[in-house]
Amino acid sequence: MAIEVKGATLRILATVILTVVVGALAGWAFIYSGAFNAAADQPHSGIVFFLAQTARERSIAARSKDISVPNLADPKAIAAGASEYAEMCTGCHLAPGMEDNEMRSGLYPYPPNLAAHRHDAKEDPQVARASAARQFWIIKHGIKMSAMPAWGKTHDDATIWSIVAFLQKLPMLTPQQYGEMTKESESVHEASGHASMQGAHEADTDHARTPADRAEPDTRDQHRH
Ligand code: HEC
Repeated sequence: MAIEVKGATLRILATVILTVVVGALAGWAFIYSGAFNAAADQPHSGIVFFLAQTARERSIAARSKDISVPNLADPKAIAAGASEYAEMCTGCHLAPGMEDNEMRSGLYPYPPNLAAHRHDAKEDPQVARASAARQFWIIKHGIKMSAMPAWGKTHDDATIWSIVAFLQKLPMLTPQQYGEMTKESESVHEASGHASMQGAHEADTDHARTPADRAEPDTRDQHRH
């Protein structure tokens, strides 16, 4: 009796192991054959899209749930965020009154138009908090296998929070209001010693940090394991 049960258990175990091995080999064969199309102009199949989207959202939700959100209503922070946004984000995420551009059209995943993006944050403080924490995390760490950069490599948390503060206002702004805000904050930018707009803004923030700074261990390293 005991021997029979043991034999059955072993058979089940062997079947499970065989299935896992065959599955892994089939997966590797699929990858190695090049059957997966890495082209950005070929959308994911439904199942790959679903899996990738679920993995992204679960990952962000798990990592942003304990982030405490500061006061996002500070007009100074909003003005500072407007300037950062105008400098670094509109190429991919647009702004009120801005037309689509040639780079954005070719990106996959397609960057959302953050000027059009509205959420029901106002009614529910819980939703507002989660949405702001999610935005902070995404802006700081970026998103793998998408064009979304990790701005935390070159910007401190306070700057990133100012961008989040501005994002809360962005969907409500008319092109005129947006123009006013970014014009004003541009002069603030220059007054505070930033380089002028001529493409120098990237260099200016990049070079502010040394390679040693870049090598600093941080949360990004956790995602590699
Ligand atoms: C080179 C293009 C590019 C630039 C520049 C860029 N992003 Fe993104 N961003 C993306 C893409 C692509 C996604 C979508 C990623 C995905 O769907 O997985 C994204 C997603 C986001 C999201 C999540 C939107 C949502 O609700 O799902 C936020 C917030 C965001 N970006 C903010 C910013 C901010 C703020 C800046 C400027 C500091 C910025 N991005 C600059 C490409 C860009």
